[in-house]
Amino acid sequence: MSGSTIKPWVVGNWKMNPMQADAKQLLQEFKQLLQEKEIAQEKCNIGVAPVAIALGTTQVELAKAVRPVFTVAQDVSRFAHTGAYTGEVSAELLKDSQIEYVLVGHSERREYFAETSAVLNAKAQNALNAGLTVIYCVGESLEQRESGQAEIIVLQQICDLASVVVAEQWQNIVIAYEPIWAIGTGKTASPEDAQAMHAKIREGLTQITSYGASMAILYGGSVKAENAVELAACPDINGALVGGASLNATSFYKIAEAFANTK
Ligand code: 13P
Repeated sequence: MSGSTIKPWVVGNWKMNPMQADAKQLLQEFKQLLQEKEIAQEKCNIGVAPVAIALGTTQVELAKAVRPVFTVAQDVSRFAHTGAYTGEVSAELLKDSQIEYVLVGHSERREYFAETSAVLNAKAQNALNAGLTVIYCVGESLEQRESGQAEIIVLQQICDLASVVVAEQWQNIVIAYEPIWAIGTGKTASPEDAQAMHAKIREGLTQITSYGASMAILYGGSVKAENAVELAACPDINGALVGGASLNATSFYKIAEAFANTK
């Protein structure tokens, strides 16, 4: 399987947005767009990651869509099972609520919540052990890119993860490359730069696991309807992790459509 034959994923990361009424409207509009012109299930996986408090309602709304749209958790506890960990939601509790996907390693978690590779490894390990699929985010800062360290930083983040993943668990991992300088800035990596990094990531993955060639590697960082087609045209870009543009139903729909049609 070459990078370009992997079924793409388009996942909307809503971050700490929006208010309940707006979320409801956003989902209604998105479902309506799918109803009017369906994006075939076999052409693209689609997911939405709402705030934790809205996981259940999002799931209920999405169950009424014409095609499967996954509900994705934005975070998971580093503690497993159940117990006295106030404020935490474990991988087992997510699974128990039929949430099958979770983001781990987002740069906002690494930065604002000081999540180290040890914490991220515990989260990823718990999620994988509970049978969840992990969307594992990696990416370099502007300073790291400008000093020529981008590749080494990103590959190190993948190696960190590799220290806790056992063989067949790689099948349940999706990588999201999100250069920090492109997140929420309107500054997208050029398709050439993004493809170059994705190819490096794939090369690294194939050295670590026999599943490397078939793993989806998503790009994130100011993905919009306007740049989705050119990103989707890159062989090793197997989808998008979309922030801001996923808060607009039409934009999010167009991004999913671009990946479904271009791949
Ligand atoms: P933006 O699309 O708003 O740049 O956010 C990207 C992101 O962080 C998705 O996880």
